[in-house]
Amino acid sequence: FKDEIKEFNIGIIGAGAAGLFTAMILDYLNKNYNLNAKYEILEANDEDRLGGRLYTYFFNVKDNEERKHQYFDVGAMRFPEIKTMDRTFQLLDKVGMKAPVNPKDPQPGDLITYYMAGKNCPKLYNGVQTIDTNITAKTFGITGLSETIAATNPDELIAEKISYWVKLYPKDPALFWEGLTSEVDQFSVRQYLTNKGFDYNTIEYLETIESGNRWYDQGVSEMILESIDFDHDKPWKCVEGGAQQIAKHMLANLNPESFLNPDRPVLFKKSVKAISYVQVPEEKPHGHDGTKCGSRYRVQVNVRGEDAPRTYHTVFNSAPLGAMQHMQLEGLNLDWDVKRAIRNLGYGASCKVGIRFKTLWWLKEPYNITEGGVAKTDLPIRTCVYPSYNVHDDDPDREHRNEPGVLLASYTWSQEANRIGALIDRATDKTSSTEDEEELKELLLHDLARLHTPTSDPKNPFYDPNDAYQKTYAFLADQYLDHYAWDWYADRHAVGAFAYFGPGQFQHMYPAVTKTDGKHVIIGEAASAHHAWVVGALESAVRGVYQFLFKHSKRSTAAHKATEAYNNDKIPGPFGPLPYEYDRTKEVLVPGDLPCV
Ligand code: PHE
Repeated sequence: FKDEIKEFNIGIIGAGAAGLFTAMILDYLNKNYNLNAKYEILEANDEDRLGGRLYTYFFNVKDNEERKHQYFDVGAMRFPEIKTMDRTFQLLDKVGMKAPVNPKDPQPGDLITYYMAGKNCPKLYNGVQTIDTNITAKTFGITGLSETIAATNPDELIAEKISYWVKLYPKDPALFWEGLTSEVDQFSVRQYLTNKGFDYNTIEYLETIESGNRWYDQGVSEMILESIDFDHDKPWKCVEGGAQQIAKHMLANLNPESFLNPDRPVLFKKSVKAISYVQVPEEKPHGHDGTKCGSRYRVQVNVRGEDAPRTYHTVFNSAPLGAMQHMQLEGLNLDWDVKRAIRNLGYGASCKVGIRFKTLWWLKEPYNITEGGVAKTDLPIRTCVYPSYNVHDDDPDREHRNEPGVLLASYTWSQEANRIGALIDRATDKTSSTEDEEELKELLLHDLARLHTPTSDPKNPFYDPNDAYQKTYAFLADQYLDHYAWDWYADRHAVGAFAYFGPGQFQHMYPAVTKTDGKHVIIGEAASAHHAWVVGALESAVRGVYQFLFKHSKRSTAAHKATEAYNNDKIPGPFGPLPYEYDRTKEVLVPGDLPCV
């Protein structure tokens, strides 16, 4: 090429899974295709928050430095070993995260078993508590349902209505995607289930049991995708030392030869204020490829507190869409549909609260919740996750037996997350629970005590559940050490927990959020077909890098070769192949390409 680009200057916004993975893909292409892309990652948070929604909170453990497992995963925490997630596991392998050498003593970053369903996990709805696994509405005396609905397991009720899509997915993901977006995406879960013959009470009941309030007003596509991810009998994994280890391992894996700044792949506390195009004078006025002016433009990023803007050939913007909307983007001349997508695409709310107790009481008598799993209730805490990393900490041969341990006391979604969020102290610099969270603490202990108190005792005719509850409450209050609560919507750099699209949004807005001129590329789990999973972030990065290569394939031999390699499925996992929903034959650059001012 006459005016070939010999070195690319790349800006990556966000050091979460998508941003870090983009850097890894560029490293790969630099090494194997001589791409010569140099990058820097601008991260708005502090260094201790590397990883975005890969975030592990460690309790202050000064009293007991040695003890492991004084943490919980505030963000991503569990990884199903299903085909959809292959890329995630390929990445983990690549960055050296493997099964522990000594299964009895896993080290930070090792992949360990995550117990999705455990033993003796309680359920409490409508004031009725049980540890039975095969539940129906009858178990809880839930009224207003037909005889058959009330007598059938709720999982089965849902599975039957979506089985067509769930079965099609493994057979032909591309066809699945096309059918899903064109045929059912327009419906909310509520509408879809109504069309399939469920009445109002049934739908409300299923929403309560299966997810969070108002979740069924979101798109049915999300619910189908979610079911594919959750409803299988494949094993799950989590990360010893917390999922934030993934970000740390990815960072450590980056190649210094690709860094724009020596030794510093990520620049922390760099909050982006504005992004715009800027004309670079020394470039030739007409790209030889016939584009009127596109190739003479660079992307300029203004960082808060910095006088001079930073200028790049391409910017990969992985800010969650709520945070992206807060940026000044006028200078990008985005099309209406792209602006609309950034503003409108649905995000889920989610809160997590971890409590550190004096002992791992749930592992012991009379609870015997010895294999992790989830407890569920209609009380405000909604779900309580028994961590998988500490299930053996109370085994007789353990050195630190009977010492403090962490429970993920509440994991909420949607409206119920917002309600828990109202009780969380939003001081941004808080490092642990504060006095302002007394009411939250009280609610947590109350709900946990109710959830862990049986409604009846067949062996004891004089059993009084209220009396038993009082005792459990007193016991838990005594066990309590401290808690840490997090509301993802209140985090200014996240502005939501994860994308969860509304009806019609995959069909009508997803194409907009993933279209690009190859210079400002939106990535991140929201711009993927796997919301709320690391794999979505990774796929978006692969798609984004491909779009960047495609855009520049007429001005760079290396980009051209790499584009071809992607087109011929020559790029190995985890860096390839292109995600199934990305149709390269419909490659759209923003109409009008770059602004010609
Ligand atoms: N991946 C997350 C979890 O395992 C969140 C999620 C929410 C996934 C909604 C799918 C749908 O909890």
